Amino acid sequence: MCGIVGYVGGKNAQDFLISGLKRLEYRGYDSAGIVTLDENGEATLLRAKGKISNLEEKLAKNKREDKIGIGHTRWATHGEPSEINAHPHQAGDIYLVHNGIIENYKELREHLTEHEFKSQTDTEVLAALVNSFYGNGKYPLVNAVVQALKLVKGTYGIAVLSTKNPDEIVVARSGSPLVIGVGTGETLIASDASALVGHTKQAIYLNDGEVARITKDSVEIKTLNAEPVSAKVEEIETNLAAIQKGGYEHFLLKEIMEQPKSLAETLRGRVNLEQGVVHLGGPGLSEQELRKIKHLIIVGCGTAYHAGLLASYYIEQFTPEITVETVIASEYRYRNAYIPENSVALIVSQSGETADTLACLREIKKQGTKTIGIVNAIGSTIAREVDGGTYVHVGPEISVASTKAFTSQVMAMVMFGLTIAQAKGAKPGSLKLYVEEIAKMPEMIEKTLKDVEGEVKKAAEKYKKYEHAIYLGRDTAYPTAMEGALKLKEISYVDANAYAFGELKHGPLALIDDRFFEVALVPEGPLYDKAISNVQEVLARGGHMLVITDTDFNLPVDDVIKISGELKIFSPILMNLVSQLFAYYMTVAKGYNVDQPRNLAKSVTVE
Ligand code: F6R
Repeated sequence: MCGIVGYVGGKNAQDFLISGLKRLEYRGYDSAGIVTLDENGEATLLRAKGKISNLEEKLAKNKREDKIGIGHTRWATHGEPSEINAHPHQAGDIYLVHNGIIENYKELREHLTEHEFKSQTDTEVLAALVNSFYGNGKYPLVNAVVQALKLVKGTYGIAVLSTKNPDEIVVARSGSPLVIGVGTGETLIASDASALVGHTKQAIYLNDGEVARITKDSVEIKTLNAEPVSAKVEEIETNLAAIQKGGYEHFLLKEIMEQPKSLAETLRGRVNLEQGVVHLGGPGLSEQELRKIKHLIIVGCGTAYHAGLLASYYIEQFTPEITVETVIASEYRYRNAYIPENSVALIVSQSGETADTLACLREIKKQGTKTIGIVNAIGSTIAREVDGGTYVHVGPEISVASTKAFTSQVMAMVMFGLTIAQAKGAKPGSLKLYVEEIAKMPEMIEKTLKDVEGEVKKAAEKYKKYEHAIYLGRDTAYPTAMEGALKLKEISYVDANAYAFGELKHGPLALIDDRFFEVALVPEGPLYDKAISNVQEVLARGGHMLVITDTDFNLPVDDVIKISGELKIFSPILMNLVSQLFAYYMTVAKGYNVDQPRNLAKSVTVE
């Protein structure tokens, strides 16, 4: 959601800004813009609605050799997607780009009578506010920015330029990420480190409440209260290959196919097959603290929520003495939920920036509950604010739909559960099968993807005529069905919903007709027979059913996709690979934008 880039140095700023914005395209946007300054402060402002290619057309006619500039991809919040609402916004000498939401912008705007507003955005209000404190260059830009931000309520990551000082950029953040890339004779900024990859490996992650003045060879950081901050330079781990398609037509397919490797990264050094135990260092809890845990609260949104729900089913299996509750962050943050003593909260987020999840984290911390992050993006806000955490290490997920993160989030949480069970003195051998299957997962994922891809592609062609789908499952196959339905709806725009098999008779059975098809997840196990009865109920009402199973299946359904039955416990996770591929091929068959589905953004940094 929204992207910021900036450059000051010896090279062509327009080139970096455009290539940086393209790297951030995956986050979702509806318009884009850049502004650069020449050495006299003369500005070249280019903005366009729609894709960055539209901006590039304008750029072709306005090439400059400027060495400083800022750029932005906008995802509309205040005011429609249009050129006039696109950033950067100008007020007097000031150009400003902004991620986040200024909540009191209406009130502030009323006082800014000297500025003639051109857009409907909250960002132009902020630009005008900074300009009002700048005194035509009488005061340092950084001071004007600080004065303005002290009046602001809301969230922001901003970058500001002044035509009076064409050698500095001022950046600040509160609730919206900003990374400063430190190069040789150049300094770069971005809202996401992926835009900096290939330019520098040295990064400074700005914290909330900090503001920085940046030149080509200096970074001075202070808090809004003028306390100096000594910058911590960290290494950017991502490499170029990780953010390129690597021969695949879409990032989504690459990320689905990457799962044997990405899960192996999650498991690396954490599974001891010989002793039948897992070691999870990140959460930083002592054996005694682990033993005391009685409740787990798992918090996430969308796919991260589904990962939490699935993990909760597993954790309950082998740690019966604790209760596990999985909650949707946007709901939980406003509930008056009582958190009992001896609780630990798992905060699950691929991006580590999701606004609702972050808000929950802060609420939960206020209650004194220990928080553990299950995060992918290194250095992200959630990763930095939790008390302890486990990175899933799946590498950048570029496609908007989350796939490889889901698989690793589930397994990381299962490993956390096993760590608790071990500390609580689980009977020797009782966890062995779990640990063995975890160790086997990467290999089984590889096999499953190979085995089913062709069949799934054919099935997608067959089912693409439907506009409605119902996903069904029981026990661990139920959260898996929920994730399958989410994947299908978000990229192929099929109205897909998931139900627990047992809920069918309580309403959804009324839906079964020729407009719908059903995807049933039927793993072998204690509830197999019950699921079979449910399948029969659907068939008896004229359902059109695709069954995903890991065992023999003899009912007269429309199609069966069978995966290996080697994994007894984690088979539903392999079934989810089928759902991922199915959603992918359905979207390709329908001709939609796979990696950037309409209306969605990768990182939901606003509420
Ligand atoms: C679905 C999807 C979203 C995210 C959700 C949480 O494919 O990607 O539902 O899972 O927005 O995002 P993170 O994990 O970044 O907090």
